[in-house]
Amino acid sequence: MEEIIHELLSEEVVAAKIEEIAQQIDRDYAGKTVHMICILKGSIFFFSELAKRIKLPVTMDFMSASSYGNGTESSGHLEIKKDLDEPVDGRDIIVVEDIIDSGHTLSLIKKIILARNPASLKLCTLLDKPDRREADIEPDYTGFVIPDEFVVGYGLDYAQRYRNLPYIGVLEFK
Ligand code: IMP
Ligand code: MG
Repeated sequence: MEEIIHELLSEEVVAAKIEEIAQQIDRDYAGKTVHMICILKGSIFFFSELAKRIKLPVTMDFMSASSYGNGTESSGHLEIKKDLDEPVDGRDIIVVEDIIDSGHTLSLIKKIILARNPASLKLCTLLDKPDRREADIEPDYTGFVIPDEFVVGYGLDYAQRYRNLPYIGVLEFK
């Protein structure tokens, strides 16, 4: 089957939105240090660009959670593949995710982090597909709300490919 990508959000549009979110975080966390948690691998570019634009002190850690399989559907069976290196207790945490679909991934991550007593915890996602939500979870910062389509690029993959596209596109199978 042929894979065709239709641009949905250009590199420029994404960059402008990330700048907006960074400014909002600077206002919301004034006087504090933000401990940003990158959910690998999909949020790498969003996480990096966002961190670079935040003017407050930032510390970083990385976590990887995944559902089994290489398809376009989340299986619901989740595992933590890489845990955080540092403790989160007493810190102001922002979890940075590429996309919220069913919401199961972020809901599990939120539960794990909250159990470790952070001072605060907020969720930041570049993309939100609310039509497919199954878990009761709402992001605090959202880049774009998108329709129920499978998207790739800017960190997002299909079978580990397309992550390096500088824009976000809808993947169509022909
Ligand atoms: P959730 O647990 O269903 O919310 O799924 C979240 C994860 O599924 C994301 O972190 C992505 O890795 C992946 N995912 C969901 N929708 C898409 C998509 O449209 N393109 C690429 N990956 C996706
Ligand atoms: Mg992901």
